[in-house]
Amino acid sequence: MGIIFDEKEKTFTLHTEHTTYQMQVDRYGFLLHLYYGKTAQGCMDYLLTYADHGFSGNPYDAGMDRTYSMDALPQEFPTLGTGDYRTVACIIKNADGSFACDFRYESHSIREGKYALQGLPAVYAGKNEAQTLEIVLSDHASGVKAQLLYGVLPELDIITRSVRILNAGEGSITLEKLAPACLDFVTGKFDFITFYGRHAMERNFQRIPIAHGISKIGSFRGASSHQYNPAVIVAERSATEDAGQCYALAFVYSGSFQSEAQRDQFDQTRVLMGLQEEMFSYCLKAGEEFAAPEVIMSYSSEGLAPLSQNLHRCMRTHLCRGKYRDVRRPILINSWEAAYFDFTGEALLKLAAEAADLGMEMFVLDDGWFGNRDNDLKALGDWQVNEKKLGCTLGELIAGINGMGLKFGLWIEPEMVNEDSNLYREHPDWVLAIPKRKPVRSRYQLVLDFSRKDVVDYVFGQICGVLDQGNIEYIKWDMNRSLSDIFSAQTDCQGKVLYDYVLGVYDFLERLVKRYPDLLIEGCCGGGGRFDAGMLYYTPQIWCSDNTDAADRVRIQYGTSFVYPVSAAGSHVSASPNHQTGRKTPLHTRGVVAMSGTFGYELNLGMLTAEEKDEIRAQIKSYCAYADLIQKGLYYRLSCPSEDEVGAWMFVSEDKSEALVCAVSLAQHANMPANYVRLKGLKENTAYREAAGGKIYNSTALMETGIALKGAECEYQAYQMHFVECCHF
Ligand code: GLA
Repeated sequence: MGIIFDEKEKTFTLHTEHTTYQMQVDRYGFLLHLYYGKTAQGCMDYLLTYADHGFSGNPYDAGMDRTYSMDALPQEFPTLGTGDYRTVACIIKNADGSFACDFRYESHSIREGKYALQGLPAVYAGKNEAQTLEIVLSDHASGVKAQLLYGVLPELDIITRSVRILNAGEGSITLEKLAPACLDFVTGKFDFITFYGRHAMERNFQRIPIAHGISKIGSFRGASSHQYNPAVIVAERSATEDAGQCYALAFVYSGSFQSEAQRDQFDQTRVLMGLQEEMFSYCLKAGEEFAAPEVIMSYSSEGLAPLSQNLHRCMRTHLCRGKYRDVRRPILINSWEAAYFDFTGEALLKLAAEAADLGMEMFVLDDGWFGNRDNDLKALGDWQVNEKKLGCTLGELIAGINGMGLKFGLWIEPEMVNEDSNLYREHPDWVLAIPKRKPVRSRYQLVLDFSRKDVVDYVFGQICGVLDQGNIEYIKWDMNRSLSDIFSAQTDCQGKVLYDYVLGVYDFLERLVKRYPDLLIEGCCGGGGRFDAGMLYYTPQIWCSDNTDAADRVRIQYGTSFVYPVSAAGSHVSASPNHQTGRKTPLHTRGVVAMSGTFGYELNLGMLTAEEKDEIRAQIKSYCAYADLIQKGLYYRLSCPSEDEVGAWMFVSEDKSEALVCAVSLAQHANMPANYVRLKGLKENTAYREAAGGKIYNSTALMETGIALKGAECEYQAYQMHFVECCHF
């Protein structure tokens, strides 16, 4: 059984296949955190210590006991107002203006299956695959209740957490801070692993010690952001890819967020993941409630590789949905880097014909097909097909492309508007703007107020009007600026807007998914500015970055791999020299890198030589052969591309009978020593044949010493080796 309540000890114990999580209702009704780690049995409240600490206050109920303090005890859902002076998970402003909340245990229930969250994305599971624990805490003085939700998915080694705040009191309250996940550690030295970046260089790996003070990452851009990703890892200082304790917290949310890591005065560690505090001030009238998005948690005692694999499995099979969840996605050609805004219908058909000839499977028409959108200054919001530019109707264009044996996909950016658009001219009041202030522009565009249902309804109608014009099997949902000027005319509580905006986006996406169940949606936000677990619930793949340079992509995809499955990472072969960096890389390298994602092409195929075309045909053939292994295999990082001279990673089938090793040489010197890459995850002392060369290798030697990469003949040379288990040496 996944969840056990021990009546005598008042403990809740959550077991997954390899992990245990335990908490306890203590003598005063506080919900204390006892343990999260490797499977363990019995009550672990002996881990708690009590001491008289100066300037750490004591709850009134503790009487004259100066050793009992919330300032030092590990907790499940610490609030401001109990004498805990660390950073807390919840701050509530009461009707009387005070900031205080003292949650104590009220009741609990355990049920089969995983809870769902109305209007929010969440991990899902069959009735037999998960259990839900709901613990109700209440604050006696205000009547406010917190319903803590825990989803336990034993086979996946995943525990999810969410919280619902219910204002069961009489006056209005305001939520000033809410983090659905808090992890308190009474001992240990940890690192905080986060993924920072910028537009076109997302999810760089950073590992810093959790020191005294608070380390905080987050976004108040309205989207999860390029700058920090809403997923963090807490790793024992000595933890590596293959050893040591580590914990992941991935927020299933696509808006502003924050994660904090604090080492306190007693050398204890607290880590929080939740909503951002800036501009979040959510009013709840009497009787109203607020549901926070959930956090996916996982633990590994064997290092970062299995931790990532747990997250990959969970997101791929219990968060992503729809027809394309488990199948290889169509290999696409995207028109953006092939033609940008500069195309005609005829040119598109030509590009499609070349793509079909090379073996591609879907044509995606990117930006520039609607209104008078010939550049990025205008027409966002005018979702009418520019038939003049296409020289035909959209239906005719699609029929032409379908006739070549290709599926058809389309780019949209529903949340945005240019001032130079009919939509803005008709509804200037639909954008986020603060009265009497001029809004901040970004990429010449403003943001539609998606916290308003009427705005969402209107745009939804317009987009459906386009999608109904032909056989559209894919859309790329883009979002090309950060939010600012947070003000909505529809509410008198402006502190709700950023959150309600995200709910508006989710509502739109959910309606889309319901109305077009077979549609494949790829998320995008100027590349990977909204690459998060929340979006994956609606869009099983997300454009990883606007940077398509293969060498930079090795680093971007490396950072992405810590949390997100390869099947989620949109990745294309583009032109060389690369349009973002000017770097030249071999076509083979671009292919190897793009294959470690949802594979596609994004370049003018008409410019290719006959040899390059043959090479692309061969790439497509290999991708089809390896796709299952790549998308569903266990992913191992074999190097750290920001430190090592080679970027290397591999995929191993669940039964370990085959593996695909990929590497890219990132530095070129004269008279170079050989680069050795140590493989991982193979069966011990087993013979594996490398398919291309036919040579047979001992797997233990491959894992202990490695395989030498033949000296690179040019910069950024890539290597791809397919190993298959064979019966003899
Ligand atoms: C964003 C996307 C690109 C492309 C352009 C179109 O930058 O990330 O892939 O779609 O918008 O304007």
